[in-house]
Amino acid sequence: MCGIIGYVGFREARTVLLESLKRLDYRGYDSAGVAIIDKNLKVYKEIGEIANVEKKIPQLKGTTGVGHTRWATHGGVTKENAHPHLSCDKKIAIVHNGIIENYTKLKEDLKKKGHRFVSQTDSEVIAHLIDDVYKGNLEEAIFAAIKKIKGSYAIVAVSQDEPGKIVGVRNESPLVIGVGDSENFLASDITAFLKYTDRVMFLNDGELCVITANSIKVLNTNKKQIKKKEELITWDFTDAEKSGFPHFMLKEIYDQPDSIHHALRGRISEMEETITFPEPVEKLLKSEINSIHIVACGTSFYAGLVGKYLIEQHTNIPVFTEIASEYRYFGTRNESSLVIAITQSGETADTLAALREAQLSGSKTLVITNVIGSTATRIADGYILQQSGPEIGVAATKTFTSQIMVLFLIALKIALLQKKLGSDELYNYLFHLKALPRHVRDVLERSNDIIAIAKQLKDAKSVFFIGRGINYPLSLEGALKLKEISYIHAEGFAAGELKHGPFALLTKDTPVVAIVTQDETYEKILANIGEIKARGSPVIAIAEDKDTEIENHADFVLRFPVSSHVLPCIPITVVLQLLAYHVADLRKCPIDKPRNLAKSVTVE
Ligand code: F6R
Repeated sequence: MCGIIGYVGFREARTVLLESLKRLDYRGYDSAGVAIIDKNLKVYKEIGEIANVEKKIPQLKGTTGVGHTRWATHGGVTKENAHPHLSCDKKIAIVHNGIIENYTKLKEDLKKKGHRFVSQTDSEVIAHLIDDVYKGNLEEAIFAAIKKIKGSYAIVAVSQDEPGKIVGVRNESPLVIGVGDSENFLASDITAFLKYTDRVMFLNDGELCVITANSIKVLNTNKKQIKKKEELITWDFTDAEKSGFPHFMLKEIYDQPDSIHHALRGRISEMEETITFPEPVEKLLKSEINSIHIVACGTSFYAGLVGKYLIEQHTNIPVFTEIASEYRYFGTRNESSLVIAITQSGETADTLAALREAQLSGSKTLVITNVIGSTATRIADGYILQQSGPEIGVAATKTFTSQIMVLFLIALKIALLQKKLGSDELYNYLFHLKALPRHVRDVLERSNDIIAIAKQLKDAKSVFFIGRGINYPLSLEGALKLKEISYIHAEGFAAGELKHGPFALLTKDTPVVAIVTQDETYEKILANIGEIKARGSPVIAIAEDKDTEIENHADFVLRFPVSSHVLPCIPITVVLQLLAYHVADLRKCPIDKPRNLAKSVTVE
């Protein structure tokens, strides 16, 4: 939520900041702005897209500046509320991501001292707090300012009186240093500067950094300089490009044969018949675990629900899934439970809060995340990286399937440790897992069939998705994908639940997408389809290639391949993703940036 960038170096800051903001705009796109030191401090901000700012900025030679793309929390979407925010003398500019909880009181005090405010935001108080104590040393002033602030923040600031220098500080909001040659960066995430450098330093809460073109200084809360490890990012810059696809979401759906393969990379060995995780994770999985609690939000929560079915099917450990924002206040906890937090960004505020809560109560904690160095990786006792590559589209796609892959590996690993799985069975599972990228490619090649169905759905007012067993969370995810990018109302249900209420909503204008697999639930879901058809609603089945019966039941059928019943949920998910994508595309929706949403939800 909100993307921030700071640049100091030898290039024109204008170009770097705009370029980086375009990579960050999935974090918010209500307004954008930049401040560049070009002799004096020059500020440009506009509501809406970054292109609106771009049009307004003249060519500037300045090589130091900060930029921001906003997801509005405090104060409406107006030019005044857009960042950067300025000190009264307009010499200091700040950009902020997070929430200043005590800003009302701070604002009153500052007003009494004569500070003039121009926005309704919480962030503007930061500029004035710094201004209030500034005596020519930005880091000193920021140290003094943050002492007064309660809340979460990543702040990046520049002062016209100290050109060639940027100061950043973080508390519960992400901030990472990009290390270049004769240039350095500060940003909410790595993709912002990946075009320029793959060398990074991750800041911890409370740390403040001062960067110039040729130096990086990091200080802890006691103002003591600390040494930071430089890390190399393996993500490729081209991973964060559309590569000829009209939208990031479509590109990321098509990335899945690779990202699924990468989720297995370095973890499975058919030769040795093993599944291996990093040492801290191995230690966690080998410890005494009486129960597993999975905490997550949104799509990651639905991956967690899939994980529940997988882990309970293969082990004797009960799994409880909890929405992170609920677990935080109401979840049960104990020392012999393992809490698995799933968060692709590693920065979702509710999930981080749940994780901290779990640690406080003595539970062991494990994180599944896509982002190395993210806050979640630094809180938990162990973490597993999804290895999906950057995901830019706001709607999660490839990271969902990777999370499922990792959860399945966890299930198999525990089963091995519990001696519930023999080596032949493991070999068989691993063999079929490796076939999944091929099945996904197969689905991608059938996208024309999916487009044909999308045409049937595009004018619907409401669409239901149903499934049984592991297909139930998939129906939730299918509905979420459709509603968030096409703005069509959609709901997912456990198929058996329809007759307990939702049936009342069914009409001939309510299409129902039924996920049908030839397992122990097959007869039951066919019966459910019959009940739905009796109410006149059209049924679109997503069914296996080998299912010859389904055509007699459903009005339309979309097919997916299975060579075994190892994770058919993966190709099914790709069908659901493509269906949502094509419906939204036909409705000309802004697919990569759905209204009111942001990719990384760093506020509770
Ligand atoms: C939906 C979507 C969101 C995220 C949720 C959690 O397509 O992307 O529901 O899944 O905001 O985000 P992470 O996984 O980063 O914690």
